Amino acid sequence: METWADLVTRARTCVACRLAEGRHQVVFGAGDPSALLMLVGEAPGRDEDLAGEPFVGRAGELLTRILAAVGLSRDQVFITNTVMCRPPHNRPPEADEQLACRPFLEAKLRVIGPRMVVLLGAVATKALLDDPTASITRLRGTRHLLQGRYYYPTFHPAALLRDPAKKRPVWEDFKRIRRDYDRLAAGLELDSDG
Ligand code: URA
Repeated sequence: METWADLVTRARTCVACRLAEGRHQVVFGAGDPSALLMLVGEAPGRDEDLAGEPFVGRAGELLTRILAAVGLSRDQVFITNTVMCRPPHNRPPEADEQLACRPFLEAKLRVIGPRMVVLLGAVATKALLDDPTASITRLRGTRHLLQGRYYYPTFHPAALLRDPAKKRPVWEDFKRIRRDYDRLAAGLELDSDG
């Protein structure tokens, strides 16, 4: 079976889509490879492409602060994106690019085995809830149980930077995420309230 190190090496040399052409670095993801909680964003931006780390720019700083506000450090969770290479001019990743990267995302889910996955924004929500018509405004605040994992759509931190009115709902989402995290970490199951 492929080890974590093999998976990282395979990702770093991937040329499965056109995004490989313009990248400086593959942004595989960062954090605890046995985390209970994984967060999935959209795609690396300029700062991430240069650093080789997810969420290190302004949106990343905000994400770090949101996590800290519920008592979680970046080292305790695993942070990644729907695609691992920066799309040109920070455009959203296209469907075929997401599809090309999907086996890596599935492999991370399989190896890490998180019980909870936070979907940061519309792109991650549509991809992982497998619903191209999903609306993040309608879905945030809901919880979805799929194959033993709980998925939590919420607004992307970059959306909060553009629209501070989204901060309050995201804070509510993360308070719930923290409550669920504590129950699952204690070996308890969650209520089936959606
Ligand atoms: N936005 C994302 O969606 N992902 C990153 O890694 C950085 C910014």
